[in-house]
Amino acid sequence: MAVVELKKVAKVFASQAGRLTVLVDIDLEVADGEFLCVVGPSGCGKSTLLNLIAGFERPSSGEIVVNGQPVTGPSPSRFVIFQEPALFPWLNVYQNVVFGLRMAGVDPSEQQDKAHALLKAVHLSKFAQAWVTEISGGMKQRVAIARALAMDPDILLMDEPFAALDAQTRDMLHEVLEEVYQQTSKTIVFVTHNVREAVRLGSRVILMSGQEGRIIEQFPVHLPRNRYLEDVEVVTIASRIRDKLRQEVLRSSGEEGEHAG
Ligand SMILES: Nc1ncnc2c1ncn2[C@@H]1O[C@H](COP(=O)(O)OP(=O)(O)OP(=O)(O)O)[C@@H](O)[C@H]1O
Ligand SMILES: [Mg+2]
Repeated sequence: MAVVELKKVAKVFASQAGRLTVLVDIDLEVADGEFLCVVGPSGCGKSTLLNLIAGFERPSSGEIVVNGQPVTGPSPSRFVIFQEPALFPWLNVYQNVVFGLRMAGVDPSEQQDKAHALLKAVHLSKFAQAWVTEISGGMKQRVAIARALAMDPDILLMDEPFAALDAQTRDMLHEVLEEVYQQTSKTIVFVTHNVREAVRLGSRVILMSGQEGRIIEQFPVHLPRNRYLEDVEVVTIASRIRDKLRQEVLRSSGEEGEHAG
């Protein structure tokens, strides 16, 4: 069953420079429990695509349907995790994780049970009482993941969530996300610049064009889980995708046009 359906979706922004056509003719289905990764040149519309599914932006034409319902705005069932985890600095780790549950009026003992289980899942049990200003970037991103999961969303939308982290921390976050994915079977749409990361995590990778605002190619990844960035199969598939991506980057940077961003 497709959880997310984009039907002939287009997005045009009206900017000072004029009309900017970012996405055109996007037909995409994301299946229940699928881990979809999105790659493409900078400025090609990856974040826009995610924001449309999140309901932060409305399509200029076409339709977005999630679980059979048209998307008309944001919903806690579609949770977005950004590159910079937007945690509440005046709350500690535990309080950040339970924030949404508190707002939703969830029973305090249930809040506590959920938070403890989630902090354990992201390996932060020892830091429950730490202030978020005292923890590292990777730890912050783990808090953001736990906070998202606390709301039990159907779909996790992740926009380059690990791009600001060093390689070791990123490896660890891959493990955490992999465990979460295997345990919860959430539907995940994950935007990244890192093609190997996309192949390590994704069940499918889509490549977006830098020029036309379209999905130009799809790559199913049938490798068994758990994978590693160094796996020969991961490297092989990633280098195929990277070649295509490089062509797209060259094509779009050679153009002074609207998608050169
Ligand atoms: N709210 C907006 N108003 C006007 N233009 C916008 C808006 N949001 C995005 N754009 C433009 O749409 C294009 C696509 O932006 P988007 O952020 O989706 O790209 P991206 O693929 O996520 O890029 P990156 O890889 O650099 O994050 C860019 O040219 C950007 O300037
Ligand atoms: Mg982006």
